Amino acid sequence: MSTARITSKRRSPSYGWWLFAVLAVGTAAYSVPVYLTGNESQSKIPLNPDVALHYLILGIHALPGGLLLALGPIQFVPAWRNKYRKMHRVLGRVYMVSMVIASVAALFAATFSEDGFPAQVGFYILTAAWLYSMVQAYRTIRKGQVQLHRIWMIRNYALSFAAVVLRVFLLIGLALRSQLDWLSFEDVYTTSVWGSILISAGVAEWFIVQRTLKPLARSRKRPADAQEQTAGRGIGKEEPAAV
Ligand code: HEM
Repeated sequence: MSTARITSKRRSPSYGWWLFAVLAVGTAAYSVPVYLTGNESQSKIPLNPDVALHYLILGIHALPGGLLLALGPIQFVPAWRNKYRKMHRVLGRVYMVSMVIASVAALFAATFSEDGFPAQVGFYILTAAWLYSMVQAYRTIRKGQVQLHRIWMIRNYALSFAAVVLRVFLLIGLALRSQLDWLSFEDVYTTSVWGSILISAGVAEWFIVQRTLKPLARSRKRPADAQEQTAGRGIGKEEPAAV
Protein backbone atom coordinates (compact mmCIF):
# COMPACT_ATOMS: atom_id res chain seq x y z
CA MET A 1 0.00 0.00 0.00
CA SER A 2 1.52 3.33 -0.97
CA THR A 3 1.78 6.31 1.34
CA ALA A 4 -0.30 8.34 -1.10
CA ARG A 5 -3.12 5.80 -0.82
CA ILE A 6 -3.00 5.94 2.97
CA THR A 7 -3.16 9.71 2.82
CA SER A 8 -6.17 9.80 0.53
CA LYS A 9 -8.06 7.12 2.49
CA ARG A 10 -7.83 8.90 5.84
CA ARG A 11 -8.24 12.60 5.40
CA SER A 12 -11.04 13.50 7.80
CA PRO A 13 -11.16 13.01 11.56
CA SER A 14 -11.85 9.40 12.56
CA TYR A 15 -13.86 8.20 15.58
CA GLY A 16 -10.57 7.61 17.40
CA TRP A 17 -9.59 11.20 16.72
CA TRP A 18 -12.87 12.49 18.18
CA LEU A 19 -12.37 10.37 21.28
CA PHE A 20 -8.89 11.67 21.98
CA ALA A 21 -9.87 15.27 21.09
CA VAL A 22 -12.80 15.17 23.55
CA LEU A 23 -10.59 13.65 26.27
CA ALA A 24 -7.88 16.28 25.67
CA VAL A 25 -10.23 19.28 25.66
CA GLY A 26 -12.26 17.82 28.55
CA THR A 27 -9.14 17.38 30.70
CA ALA A 28 -7.99 20.92 29.95
CA ALA A 29 -11.44 22.36 30.72
CA TYR A 30 -11.76 20.35 33.93
CA SER A 31 -8.28 20.72 35.42
CA VAL A 32 -6.96 24.16 34.37
CA PRO A 33 -9.57 26.78 35.53
CA VAL A 34 -9.02 26.19 39.28
CA TYR A 35 -5.46 27.51 38.85
CA LEU A 36 -6.67 30.74 37.24
CA THR A 37 -9.07 31.94 39.95
CA GLY A 38 -6.37 33.03 42.42
CA ASN A 39 -8.07 30.94 45.11
CA GLU A 40 -5.33 28.66 46.41
CA SER A 41 -7.75 26.49 48.38
CA GLN A 42 -9.08 25.19 45.04
CA SER A 43 -5.77 23.51 44.19
CA LYS A 44 -6.34 19.82 43.49
CA ILE A 45 -2.93 18.85 44.81
CA PRO A 46 -1.36 19.75 48.17
CA LEU A 47 0.55 23.03 48.01
CA ASN A 48 4.05 23.20 49.48
CA PRO A 49 3.77 25.43 52.61
CA ASP A 50 7.39 26.58 52.16
CA VAL A 51 6.86 27.85 48.60
CA ALA A 52 4.67 30.96 48.37
CA LEU A 53 4.54 30.80 44.57
CA HIS A 54 3.58 27.14 44.25
CA TYR A 55 -0.01 27.86 43.20
CA LEU A 56 1.16 30.50 40.69
CA ILE A 57 3.69 28.04 39.23
CA LEU A 58 0.93 25.46 38.78
CA GLY A 59 -1.11 28.09 36.92
CA ILE A 60 1.85 29.02 34.67
CA HIS A 61 2.24 25.30 33.95
CA ALA A 62 -1.43 24.38 33.56
CA LEU A 63 -2.60 27.23 31.28
CA PRO A 64 -0.19 26.61 28.37
CA GLY A 65 -0.47 22.87 29.10
CA GLY A 66 -4.24 23.01 28.59
CA LEU A 67 -3.83 25.11 25.45
CA LEU A 68 -1.39 22.72 23.78
CA LEU A 69 -3.49 19.74 24.79
CA ALA A 70 -6.46 21.26 22.95
CA LEU A 71 -4.36 22.33 19.92
CA GLY A 72 -2.71 18.95 19.37
CA PRO A 73 -5.64 17.08 17.82
CA ILE A 74 -6.20 19.86 15.23
CA GLN A 75 -2.62 19.46 14.01
CA PHE A 76 -3.03 15.74 13.35
CA VAL A 77 -5.90 15.97 10.82
CA PRO A 78 -4.35 15.53 7.33
CA ALA A 79 -7.20 17.32 5.54
CA TRP A 80 -6.82 20.45 7.70
CA ARG A 81 -3.02 20.25 7.64
CA ASN A 82 -2.94 20.11 3.84
CA LYS A 83 -5.67 22.69 3.26
CA TYR A 84 -4.60 25.25 5.88
CA ARG A 85 -0.82 25.00 5.83
CA LYS A 86 -0.30 28.46 7.29
CA MET A 87 -2.65 27.69 10.17
CA HIS A 88 -0.72 24.45 10.79
CA ARG A 89 2.52 26.42 11.03
CA VAL A 90 1.05 29.12 13.30
CA LEU A 91 -0.62 26.61 15.64
CA GLY A 92 2.59 24.57 15.63
CA ARG A 93 4.53 27.57 16.91
CA VAL A 94 1.89 28.33 19.55
CA TYR A 95 2.05 24.68 20.62
CA MET A 96 5.86 24.78 20.81
CA VAL A 97 6.04 28.01 22.84
CA SER A 98 3.28 26.73 25.18
CA MET A 99 5.20 23.51 25.64
CA VAL A 100 8.43 25.26 26.54
CA ILE A 101 6.65 27.47 29.12
CA ALA A 102 4.70 24.49 30.53
CA SER A 103 7.82 22.33 30.78
CA VAL A 104 9.95 24.98 32.54
CA ALA A 105 7.10 25.45 35.04
CA ALA A 106 6.79 21.63 35.31
CA LEU A 107 10.41 21.46 36.48
CA PHE A 108 9.61 23.88 39.32
CA ALA A 109 6.30 22.12 40.06
CA ALA A 110 8.12 18.77 40.28
CA THR A 111 10.78 20.25 42.57
CA PHE A 112 8.17 21.71 44.96
CA SER A 113 5.82 18.72 44.74
CA GLU A 114 4.55 17.23 47.98
CA ASP A 115 3.62 13.98 46.26
CA GLY A 116 6.79 11.97 46.84
CA PHE A 117 10.20 11.33 45.31
CA PRO A 118 9.18 8.54 42.84
CA ALA A 119 6.54 10.81 41.29
CA GLN A 120 9.02 13.70 41.13
CA VAL A 121 11.52 11.52 39.25
CA GLY A 122 8.76 10.50 36.83
CA PHE A 123 7.92 14.16 36.18
CA TYR A 124 11.58 15.08 35.56
CA ILE A 125 11.98 12.24 33.06
CA LEU A 126 8.70 13.17 31.37
CA THR A 127 9.81 16.79 31.04
CA ALA A 128 13.17 15.76 29.54
CA ALA A 129 11.49 13.44 27.01
CA TRP A 130 8.89 16.12 26.25
CA LEU A 131 11.54 18.74 25.45
CA TYR A 132 13.77 16.30 23.55
CA SER A 133 10.94 15.14 21.28
CA MET A 134 10.01 18.76 20.57
CA VAL A 135 13.59 19.68 19.63
CA GLN A 136 13.70 16.69 17.27
CA ALA A 137 10.31 17.58 15.76
CA TYR A 138 11.50 21.12 15.12
CA ARG A 139 14.88 20.11 13.70
CA THR A 140 13.38 17.57 11.32
CA ILE A 141 10.76 19.92 9.89
CA ARG A 142 13.41 22.61 9.37
CA LYS A 143 15.26 20.04 7.25
CA GLY A 144 12.08 19.21 5.31
CA GLN A 145 11.88 15.68 6.76
CA VAL A 146 8.10 15.56 6.98
CA GLN A 147 7.72 11.93 8.03
CA LEU A 148 10.31 12.22 10.77
CA HIS A 149 8.66 15.42 11.97
CA ARG A 150 5.36 13.57 12.12
CA ILE A 151 6.89 10.70 14.09
CA TRP A 152 8.47 13.06 16.64
CA MET A 153 5.23 15.03 17.00
CA ILE A 154 3.30 11.82 17.65
CA ARG A 155 5.81 11.07 20.41
CA ASN A 156 5.61 14.60 21.75
CA TYR A 157 1.84 14.76 21.80
CA ALA A 158 1.61 11.31 23.36
CA LEU A 159 3.71 12.68 26.23
CA SER A 160 1.37 15.69 26.50
CA PHE A 161 -1.52 13.25 26.52
CA ALA A 162 0.07 11.51 29.53
CA ALA A 163 -1.59 14.36 31.49
CA VAL A 164 -4.99 13.01 30.36
CA VAL A 165 -4.08 9.38 31.05
CA LEU A 166 -2.77 10.36 34.50
CA ARG A 167 -6.13 11.83 35.45
CA VAL A 168 -8.03 8.79 34.17
CA PHE A 169 -5.71 6.50 36.18
CA LEU A 170 -6.12 8.70 39.26
CA LEU A 171 -9.91 8.46 39.00
CA ILE A 172 -9.71 4.67 38.75
CA GLY A 173 -7.08 4.46 41.50
CA LEU A 174 -9.06 6.62 43.91
CA ALA A 175 -12.19 4.56 43.25
CA LEU A 176 -10.16 1.40 44.03
CA ARG A 177 -8.76 3.04 47.17
CA SER A 178 -12.25 3.59 48.53
CA GLN A 179 -12.66 -0.22 48.42
CA LEU A 180 -9.14 -1.26 49.48
CA ASP A 181 -8.02 -0.03 52.92
CA TRP A 182 -4.36 -0.90 52.41
CA LEU A 183 -4.00 1.31 49.31
CA SER A 184 -2.48 4.70 50.20
CA PHE A 185 -2.95 7.90 48.21
CA GLU A 186 0.80 7.94 47.51
CA ASP A 187 0.59 4.41 46.04
CA VAL A 188 -2.23 5.49 43.74
CA TYR A 189 -0.50 8.73 42.72
CA THR A 190 2.93 7.23 42.04
CA THR A 191 1.49 4.29 40.10
CA SER A 192 -0.69 6.65 38.07
CA VAL A 193 2.23 8.97 37.21
CA TRP A 194 4.51 6.15 36.06
CA GLY A 195 1.67 4.17 34.45
CA SER A 196 0.53 7.19 32.43
CA ILE A 197 4.06 7.87 31.16
CA LEU A 198 4.74 4.26 30.14
CA ILE A 199 1.33 3.66 28.54
CA SER A 200 1.39 6.94 26.59
CA ALA A 201 4.92 6.39 25.31
CA GLY A 202 4.21 2.73 24.50
CA VAL A 203 1.00 3.48 22.58
CA ALA A 204 2.85 6.18 20.60
CA GLU A 205 5.53 3.69 19.53
CA TRP A 206 2.89 1.11 18.55
CA PHE A 207 1.04 3.77 16.56
CA ILE A 208 4.20 4.91 14.77
CA VAL A 209 5.04 1.34 13.74
CA GLN A 210 1.49 0.52 12.60
CA ARG A 211 0.65 3.77 10.85
CA THR A 212 3.99 4.98 9.53
CA LEU A 213 6.78 2.45 9.43
CA LYS A 214 4.82 -0.61 8.28
CA PRO A 215 3.02 1.16 5.40
CA LEU A 216 6.29 2.78 4.32
CA ALA A 217 8.12 -0.54 4.41
CA ARG A 218 5.34 -2.22 2.40
CA SER A 219 5.35 0.58 -0.16
CA ARG A 220 8.95 -0.23 -1.03
CA LYS A 221 9.36 -3.00 -3.55
CA ARG A 222 13.04 -3.58 -2.96
CA PRO A 223 14.31 -4.57 0.53
CA ALA A 224 17.23 -2.17 0.22
CA ASP A 225 14.82 0.75 -0.10
CA ALA A 226 12.88 -0.37 2.96
CA GLN A 227 16.08 -0.42 4.98
CA GLU A 228 16.87 3.08 3.83
CA GLN A 229 13.42 4.20 4.97
CA THR A 230 13.75 2.89 8.49
CA ALA A 231 17.27 4.29 8.78
CA GLY A 232 15.66 7.71 8.44
CA ARG A 233 17.16 8.88 5.16
CA GLY A 234 14.37 8.21 2.69
CA ILE A 235 11.73 8.70 5.35
CA GLY A 236 12.25 12.44 5.43
CA LYS A 237 11.33 12.78 1.77
CA GLU A 238 7.98 11.00 1.94
CA GLU A 239 4.62 12.66 1.60
CA PRO A 240 2.88 13.18 4.97
CA ALA A 241 0.70 10.19 5.85
CA ALA A 242 -2.55 10.28 7.78
CA VAL A 243 -2.61 10.00 11.53
C1 HEM B 1 3.71 16.11 29.70
C2 HEM B 1 4.46 16.84 30.44
C3 HEM B 1 4.03 17.32 31.80
C4 HEM B 1 4.76 17.29 32.92
C5 HEM B 1 6.18 16.79 33.06
C6 HEM B 1 3.94 17.82 33.98
C7 HEM B 1 4.36 17.99 35.30
C8 HEM B 1 3.55 18.38 36.34
C9 HEM B 1 3.94 18.44 37.72
C10 HEM B 1 5.31 18.09 38.26
C11 HEM B 1 2.89 18.86 38.43
C12 HEM B 1 2.82 18.98 39.95
C13 HEM B 1 2.32 17.61 40.44
C14 HEM B 1 2.53 17.38 41.91
O1 HEM B 1 2.96 18.25 42.65
O2 HEM B 1 2.25 16.25 42.32
C15 HEM B 1 1.81 19.07 37.50
C16 HEM B 1 0.56 19.48 37.84
C17 HEM B 1 -0.40 19.85 36.93
N1 HEM B 1 -0.34 19.71 35.57
FE1 HEM B 1 1.19 18.96 34.53
N2 HEM B 1 2.73 18.16 33.47
C18 HEM B 1 2.72 17.88 32.14
C19 HEM B 1 1.70 18.09 31.24
C20 HEM B 1 0.53 18.74 31.55
C21 HEM B 1 -0.48 19.08 30.60
C22 HEM B 1 -0.42 18.81 29.09
C23 HEM B 1 -1.47 19.67 31.28
C24 HEM B 1 -2.73 20.17 30.66
C25 HEM B 1 -3.88 20.17 31.23
C26 HEM B 1 -1.10 19.70 32.69
C27 HEM B 1 -1.85 20.22 33.72
C28 HEM B 1 -1.51 20.19 35.06
C29 HEM B 1 -2.36 20.65 36.13
C30 HEM B 1 -3.73 21.25 35.98
C31 HEM B 1 -1.64 20.43 37.31
C32 HEM B 1 -2.10 20.73 38.74
C33 HEM B 1 -2.46 19.44 39.43
C34 HEM B 1 -3.88 19.03 39.16
O3 HEM B 1 -4.79 19.82 39.37
O4 HEM B 1 -4.04 17.89 38.70
N3 HEM B 1 0.13 19.13 32.79
N4 HEM B 1 2.24 18.78 36.22
